[in-house]
Amino acid sequence: MALVKSSKLIPAIGAFSPAMAVFPARASSWWSGVEMGPPDPILGVTEAFRRDTNPKKMNLGVGAYRDDQGKPWVLTSVRKAEALIASQQLDKEYLGIGGLAEFSKACAELSLGPDNQVLKSKRSITVQTISGTGSLRIGANFLSRFHKGVRDVYLPKPTWGNHTPIFRDAGMQLKAYRYYDPNTCGFDYTGAMEDISKIPEGSVIMLHACAHNPTGVDPKQEQWRELADAIKKRKLLVFFDMAYQGFASGDIDRDAWAVRHFIEQGHNVLLSQSFAKNMGLYGERVGGFTVVCADAEEAQRVESQLKILIRPIYSNPPMNGARIASTILNTPELRKLWLDEVKSMADRIISMRALLAANLRKEGSTRDWRHVTEQIGMFCFTGLKPEQVERLTKEFSVYMTKDGRISVAGITSGNVGYLAHGMHQVTK
Ligand code: LMR
Repeated sequence: MALVKSSKLIPAIGAFSPAMAVFPARASSWWSGVEMGPPDPILGVTEAFRRDTNPKKMNLGVGAYRDDQGKPWVLTSVRKAEALIASQQLDKEYLGIGGLAEFSKACAELSLGPDNQVLKSKRSITVQTISGTGSLRIGANFLSRFHKGVRDVYLPKPTWGNHTPIFRDAGMQLKAYRYYDPNTCGFDYTGAMEDISKIPEGSVIMLHACAHNPTGVDPKQEQWRELADAIKKRKLLVFFDMAYQGFASGDIDRDAWAVRHFIEQGHNVLLSQSFAKNMGLYGERVGGFTVVCADAEEAQRVESQLKILIRPIYSNPPMNGARIASTILNTPELRKLWLDEVKSMADRIISMRALLAANLRKEGSTRDWRHVTEQIGMFCFTGLKPEQVERLTKEFSVYMTKDGRISVAGITSGNVGYLAHGMHQVTK
């Protein structure tokens, strides 16, 4: 392989050659065929926001909680857990491949409920993962390797932008079922049921456990029951993504209702959990991946294969965030404080929804904005068209994803009026 364009151009040491100035010897490119890729649809918005110099700019792109001053918030329960951990002078040895055992146990108890029979009979396995994305990717790799013959994963339409590359890169085939109805800005129950009834047996179906991302639209409990029955009839494998436990209603048990109901109905689900949002541990990358199995022996075999999958990817997960989460979940007074803090985050988001709707009315908007308060969780799917989103960004420095999703957590009582004004101007 010739790294140097032409050896004739290289003069002997010390000799002068006019060619030196014109054709310096340099390596030919290995990567000339690599095309420039587009920015990430969600994280790319933050990059554009950072470049904007308008003092009124707002970043409603990424789903990250902000306090009413628009600042990232480190929970007091997290600060206290960190202090407790620091006082213990713990070592920094490698964790096991599956992560911190006391974290994984607490993580599974949080989602399934501590008295769940699945946990009591040890027929599930939970491993610590690199937040929700890492969990989904381990799950996707596991499916790709072991869900023999069936490569179809049905994602809700729309779904979180990263679901598609996660499953695609793991070698799964992407399919979709109807989920959101743009006419009502709500759940397309009829469309979803119709599509699900036609999904081939054995396929995987992805469900958002609560606070659906990007739409903020969740099925009602009665609809979840019907979905669980229909999915059972079609013999589909359910993969729950639960990145927002506590963020929808402020109550972690209520937000885990769908997952627990499906398990009660006999679904042996896969489950991804993230502690990015509900503990504000974004950059610590703390999550869990659970497989509910037929029995304890199957769970052990699955665990062995999860470790074999994880080891060549990142060997074993980082410990700091898992220690923080585990300390909070396993220390009664910190856990109580944390539950109050989760509720306060959910409540602030709910109050920002109401304020946004009120300010839109104050601006004189006659559009139906009921969905702003009816949708739930971190996001509001505003119904803004891509060209309206573009105007809002260009003219008002309000940043959001192109699909019209806003992170309600990025709104404050100080900037909600400005946002409502901008939204009214581009939609009137
Ligand atoms: C989001 O949807 O904004 C968050 O889940 C952050 C991310 O990684 O995309």
